[in-house]
Amino acid sequence: MKIKNICCIGAGYVGGPTMAVIAQKNPDIMVTVVDLDEDRINQWNEKELDKLPIYEPGLAKVISETRNRNLFFSTQIDNSIEKSEIIFISVNTPTKTYGDGKGMAADLKYVELCARQIARVAKTDKIVVEKSTLPVKTAEAIQDILNNTGNGVNFEILSNPEFLAEGTAMRDLAVPDRVLIGGNYKTKNGKKAMKSLVNIYESWVPKKNILTTNIWSSELSKLTANAFLAQRVSSINSLSELCEATGADVLEVAKAIGMDTRIGDKFLKPSVGFGGSCFQKDILNLVYIAKSLGLNEVAEYWHQVIKMNNYQRFRFAKNIIRSLYNTVNGKKIAFLGWSFKKDTNDTRESAAIYVADALLNEKAYISVFDPKVNSKKIMDDINSLGTRPENQNMKYLKFEKEPYKIADGAHAIAILTEWDEFKNYDWKRIFNLMNKPAFIFDGRNILDKIILEKIGFVYQGVGRR
Ligand code: NAD
Ligand code: UDX
Repeated sequence: MKIKNICCIGAGYVGGPTMAVIAQKNPDIMVTVVDLDEDRINQWNEKELDKLPIYEPGLAKVISETRNRNLFFSTQIDNSIEKSEIIFISVNTPTKTYGDGKGMAADLKYVELCARQIARVAKTDKIVVEKSTLPVKTAEAIQDILNNTGNGVNFEILSNPEFLAEGTAMRDLAVPDRVLIGGNYKTKNGKKAMKSLVNIYESWVPKKNILTTNIWSSELSKLTANAFLAQRVSSINSLSELCEATGADVLEVAKAIGMDTRIGDKFLKPSVGFGGSCFQKDILNLVYIAKSLGLNEVAEYWHQVIKMNNYQRFRFAKNIIRSLYNTVNGKKIAFLGWSFKKDTNDTRESAAIYVADALLNEKAYISVFDPKVNSKKIMDDINSLGTRPENQNMKYLKFEKEPYKIADGAHAIAILTEWDEFKNYDWKRIFNLMNKPAFIFDGRNILDKIILEKIGFVYQGVGRR
């Protein structure tokens, strides 16, 4: 099938950048990204590119090249579905917060709504692509809804999970390690649908990097890839505590093990704990699926990755309290960074939220600076935990637009995100602004311990004495 129009439902961190790159590399295809959220669509259509709804290095450039050429952002969902041959479902699939599977299973209500809308609107055959991360076997449910509520047209379901990481999304999309396409290659229509999607990616991705599999393998591979990556972070974080207890240096250990080509050196950075919208959600989902199938040992094995991560966040907060003479009551702690990693404005599941919550429980005052996160987001994040009344959060948690302001009168600096600019701050000036002894808790090991100790700081990294 020759594809002339693509519709992507969901203009988020995945839908926006992914479709921008597809449009850039396929100038003859009209790509429309649609969303229920009118504000978000308006932001995607903002003339001033620094007002796009997500911050991602390199994104603004691709948007300026493609927007209103063959990339469009719209709330006209029905219209876009109707005219497109391929529809990507790229909506959020958060952890369920209610009912059966609460706190574990993926909430598929948004995906199901998309399927019902596609079925209602489609008057011609469509290829429906799962771009969202979904539990294995979801394609069966989507197919069922489409077949039972549709207008008698043919729907082919494909799974095409997205592997981009935030902060490096544009590079990940431009030169992906692999593109995974799962489908029903036993039927003629299934094969044709897969070929149509392969053609779109072949505009820029080498053939050898486009992997086609059966649909269940594709769905499960996405959950598994995230679980493996998160497992490495929890593994090195577990060792960071052992290093602190023994005098080994976790960076030296990571280097030594990473040089073994069988292990590799990526994803071995100790930290204050992993965050982001994917790792925790996808592992919990994996645990839920395993449990539902009665595979309790499998479930417990993966659950430990999350437990270790929660412990690492808690341990970081506890160490601050212990080091500040067992009380932070009334003390000011300055947070550098709030996003879950550098080069993104995304704060979902950021370790900073949980560390702040633990310190607020101890009545500390927290001042935050982050280069890309604003005060509203920070307050929403902390309020969403529901730990204490919002006016209490307002009193104790403050946001500053300028990094040196947070240091003024602070007892300690905590580095929560590894933003590059933090390395180049005037640390002598920061020291002079602070209460003494001036502590630094470097949750990302990005600063130079020797230089800081020379200035007079009491420095503590993760996994290093
Ligand atoms: P997001 O929350 O940023 O965006 C989802 C968008 O879908 C929102 O703007 C929401 O308004 C919209 N939406 C929800 N229901 C809708 C409906 N019925 N009709 C129209 N629009 C609707 O989410 P995201 O981070 O882009 O993630 C999307 C999916 O991709 C998730 O399944 C996630 O697990 C997966 N994923 C995310 C990343 C990442 O780095 N964020 C990477 C790989 C995969
Ligand atoms: C992840 C996957 O990498 C990506 O393939 C998938 O599509 C979505 O989920 P993302 O969450 O955007 O991407 O970022 P990632 O780079 O994986 O980092 C996740 C978290 O782990 C961050 O909080 C990061 O700081 C932390 N991390 C990562 C570490 O603490 N140490 C590391 O060595 C690597």
